[in-house]
Parts: sequence; C-alpha cells; structure tokens
Amino acid sequence: MNNVGILGFGKYVPEKIMSNADWEKLVDTSDEWITTRTGIKERRFVEEGQGTSDLGAEAAKKALKDARLEAKDIELIILATCSADYRVQNCSSLIQKKIGAVNAAAFDIQAACSGFIYSLTVGKALIQSGMYKKILVIGAESISRLVDMQDRNTAILFGDGAAAAVLGEVEEGYGIISSYMGTEGVDDDTLRIKAGGTLYPATVERVENREIYLEMNGTDVFKFAVRALPHATKEAAKNGNVNLADIDILFPHQANLRIIESAAKRLRIPMEKVYLNIHKYGNTSAASIGLAIGDALEEGRLKKGDLIALTGFGAGLTYGSLIMRWSK
Ligand code: COA
Repeated sequence: MNNVGILGFGKYVPEKIMSNADWEKLVDTSDEWITTRTGIKERRFVEEGQGTSDLGAEAAKKALKDARLEAKDIELIILATCSADYRVQNCSSLIQKKIGAVNAAAFDIQAACSGFIYSLTVGKALIQSGMYKKILVIGAESISRLVDMQDRNTAILFGDGAAAAVLGEVEEGYGIISSYMGTEGVDDDTLRIKAGGTLYPATVERVENREIYLEMNGTDVFKFAVRALPHATKEAAKNGNVNLADIDILFPHQANLRIIESAAKRLRIPMEKVYLNIHKYGNTSAASIGLAIGDALEEGRLKKGDLIALTGFGAGLTYGSLIMRWSK
C-alpha cells in the first residue's frame, strides 16, 4: 500500500487580537482567572465580513505554495468545520471557488474539534484506495461567531483560525502510520448549539433566549476530555504498532492547558514533548491541531522524520488520534 503523507502545509489566523484584557471589558472575568483555569492569554477573531471560507482559503493557498502545486492539481477538498459560512451550502465549495480548484470535488466534515484528525484519516483512505492522488485537507473555524458574548463560562475559551495540508503519496517510511476515531454520542447540553438546526429552527423567541449560541457543560466536557485524549492516543499507537515513548512531539487539541497536562501525564509523555500554543489562539476547534503544527514548523521545531501524534476531542462527543512520521 502506498504511503500517504503531507506534501505541503499552511496556516492562517485573522489579524484582530482579542486579549483577556479585552474580555475583562465585556464580562465579569479576569486575566488571572482565564490564565490559571485555561492557559489562554489571547485569541484571534474574524472581522465583520470575513468568513470561515476566507480563513480556509488563505491557509489552503499557503499549503499549495509549500507543496509547489497549483489549485488545479487538487482533486478533492475536505474541510473540517463546525462554523461554516452558511447553514446550507457546504463551506468547502466556497473555498474551492476562492482558490480556483476547478478540478476538485469538495465536502465538509462536521466532527467539531476532532474534525482535522477525521479529515486526514478519510483523505488518507481515499488516496490509498486509488481514487485520488492529491487531496487538500483543511480545518477552519470562526467560533467567535457562534459564542454568546455575554457568557463568560464558554465564550472566553474560543478563537478563530485555519490550517491546511496537501495530502499525497510520500516516500517509504514517512507519512500517516495509523489513526483511531471514536464517538460517545450525546443528545443534551454537554456541548452544542441547540437552535438554528432543523429540530429547533431559529425563531425570535429562541434568538431572544440566546439558544442560537454555543452552550457547554464545562465540567462534563473536562471529565470526558481527560479520559478521551489518552485513550485515543493509546489506541492509535496500538493500531500502528508504535511505542508512545518514541513519539517526538504530541500535538493535542488546544482546549485547556489543564486537560493537556492531565492527558500527557496519563500517557507518560513529558510536557517538553507536548506542543502548546493555546496561549496565542485559545480553542479554535477543527483548526487547533493544524495551527499547532503550523507554528511548530515556523519555529523549526517540527522536522522531517519526527514521529508525531495528533490527538483531539470535541462536540458529539467525538475524539480521535493520528500518528505520522513527518515527511517534509
Ligand atoms: N471568569 C471568571 N469566573 C468564571 C468564568 C470566567 N470567565 N467562567 C466561569 N467562572 C466561574 C464560575 O461561574 C464558577 O463560579 P461559582 O463557583 O461561583 O459558581 C467558578 O468560576 C468555577 O467554575 P468551574 O466550572 O468550577 O471552573 P473550572 O475550573 O471547571 O473551569 C472551564 C471551567 C470551562 C475552564 C473548564 O471546565 C473547562 O475547560 N472545561 C472543558 C471545556 C472545553 O474544553 N470545551 C471545548 C471542548 S472542544
């Protein structure tokens, strides 16, 4: 079977910075509370008129340039997002148009913060099946548009951004080794937006009740996450016959520093091997792991041959992990 890996990578964040001090002006919170409970110092917010597709398109253009490919070379775009520009149509089609990927089919994957891992897994399988040779996988989000700006419990956690990877065949010994995906289905207020879908359409009353915004039971999500992250990582390692001690860098979903520290401890992976940029961007859902990879590349920390594990969890509740040997 051919080896599938990353031929090019790109990331993009909107320019507008929303710091903890900015949040102090809007809700009853403090930089001290947010920093100690989450590790977040600032995040990026989209501007008026800027959509998730704009962020995704910018990241995609950088990934194509990095791969020395043109948009017309791409046969499929898989976009992981839960904050699409429109309720209907798929956001990946907007990106296809914006970058001019005229030969590509496009679809979205909605697996919340696990979306990037799910999308890479699907992309790899489609290439290995022989159906496609070059797939663009993107994680892009504008979660700032979905949070209730009056809700200090939830809103302060999130931010916006995008990352993109061109997937294709790589040399022997490199690329995606294994992955694992899991779901613990819930139908409650653990982590969701209740109104605006087909079951509870957005009526004036529901808008006034603020049901169109993200609601979350932080404690339940926290408990799920500290269990799911180590479990998924161990399962992916097992699937790939990989020893966790051999992992060079762990890229966890950047949701909460305490969750990451707990997961690393359970996996016996020292924090020096865990990549963190949560202080810069907060939780950017499906973009978060890709933004971490993008920053690690810019810093020269991630290099060809490194064995890396990506691991995430999110609404659904979904979780997953993917192990690869970096191929660039
Ligand atoms: N500023 C100040 N105080 C805040 C606050 C804020 N932004 N948000 C909540 N509080 C208050 C609460 O109202 C509560 O007050 P009370 O004790 O008077 O009721 C107090 O701080 C402690 O709340 P608690 O829920 O115990 O805090 P916590 O230590 O569990 O941290 C989260 C809360 C949300 C940071 C944490 O539960 C978490 O990160 N959960 C996971 C969320 C997540 O990752 N979601 C995305 C998944 S993809």
